[in-house]
Amino acid sequence: MNKALLDYTLRIRVPIVVFVGVAAFAATYYLSRAERDGVGYAPAQPVSFSHSLHAGTMRIDCKYCHTAVTVSPHASVPAVSVCMNCHTVARKNRPEIIKLTKYYEDGAALPWKRVHKIPDYAYFNHSAHVNKGIDCFNCHGAVENMDVLGQVSEFTMGACLDCHRNAPQRLAHVAGIKIGPDNCNTCHR
Ligand code: HEC
Ligand code: HEC
Ligand code: HEC
Ligand code: HEC
Ligand code: HEC
Repeated sequence: MNKALLDYTLRIRVPIVVFVGVAAFAATYYLSRAERDGVGYAPAQPVSFSHSLHAGTMRIDCKYCHTAVTVSPHASVPAVSVCMNCHTVARKNRPEIIKLTKYYEDGAALPWKRVHKIPDYAYFNHSAHVNKGIDCFNCHGAVENMDVLGQVSEFTMGACLDCHRNAPQRLAHVAGIKIGPDNCNTCHR
């Protein structure tokens, strides 16, 4: 390699390669954050349903739609027929409600994008928490203010255990709350 080319390589090429490498890493790190810990993940949904409007302004109870939350591990997301209790009449000429009605008439389930998800090897149970007086807010934040629903708190093992071990302090407003279990087979069965 002659001196001019070596000089060019060291002063121009090497810094460019390093810069591109660092920039790509930074961009990937930043962009994949939502998939890594879930916090901030708020996907666009097939029908623009607003919790802020229905659970906030209209004050419809969470359990009207998430019917399984007190009786099963899963909270459940409502069938289109639940929406149609109102939307056969309410705002039925709006584009989003026309879309909703089409799913209903086709007998098709709405392909809602799942927001919160822990890995299959871990076990979570809604009713065990909700029936002890632990409110949705403690884990899902102020859903009644969300137009687009998103994840606000981490559901890592560390986050579960942090509440379990400190439940009497963290949940001081819940009468008679005891510490949660921390033996492995409670959450890994
Ligand atoms: C009128 C029905 C309705 C009411 C009332 C309602 N929800 Fe929902 N909820 C839905 C629908 C539909 C979805 C799926 C679409 C979405 O994520 O916005 C959903 C999604 C969710 C999710 C995310 C599910 C996932 O994929 O992880 C949470 C958490 C949630 N609701 C909590 C609440 C809480 C807390 C309340 C009360 C403050 C509430 N909801 C009231 C219909 C309802
Ligand atoms: C208890 C009655 C009720 C239920 C159940 C209900 N809605 Fe609504 N929804 C309303 C009313 C009333 C409005 C109009 C509120 C306003 O504009 O002030 C509305 C507005 C909407 C809008 C906005 C329409 C627009 O563009 O103006 C969408 C989208 C919507 N609802 C979707 C849903 C979906 C999806 C479900 C089921 C998961 C659902 N709703 C369940 C009563 C209900
Ligand atoms: C102690 C924390 C905690 C509380 C309290 C809680 N959730 Fe959840 N929620 C979770 C976790 C963790 C997941 C993910 C579960 C999984 O992937 O199996 C989840 C998932 C969901 C989902 C989507 C999956 C499903 O189970 O159907 C909905 C809907 C939901 N929660 C609604 C609610 C509502 C409504 C309340 C209050 C009545 C509530 N949650 C209370 C932690 C909580
Ligand atoms: C309160 C519930 C809970 C308890 C108790 C618990 N875990 Fe977990 N664990 C989880 C959840 C949720 C995840 C998945 C989320 C994550 O990776 O942090 C997980 C993930 C893991 C993983 C995979 C970690 C990784 O980085 O992929 C291992 C290994 C594990 N747990 C082992 C244990 C052992 C050993 C114990 C007992 C000392 C234990 N867990 C107790 C909830 C729990
Ligand atoms: C806001 C506090 C809080 C958070 C966050 C929380 N838990 Fe709990 N959990 C509790 C308390 C308190 C109990 C004990 C309730 C009782 O007295 O039975 C409990 C009980 C449980 C149980 C026992 C259920 C049974 O059948 O007895 C399981 C399983 C569990 N939690 C899993 C989890 C997992 C997995 C996570 C994280 C994804 C989690 N919890 C997050 C407070 C919490």
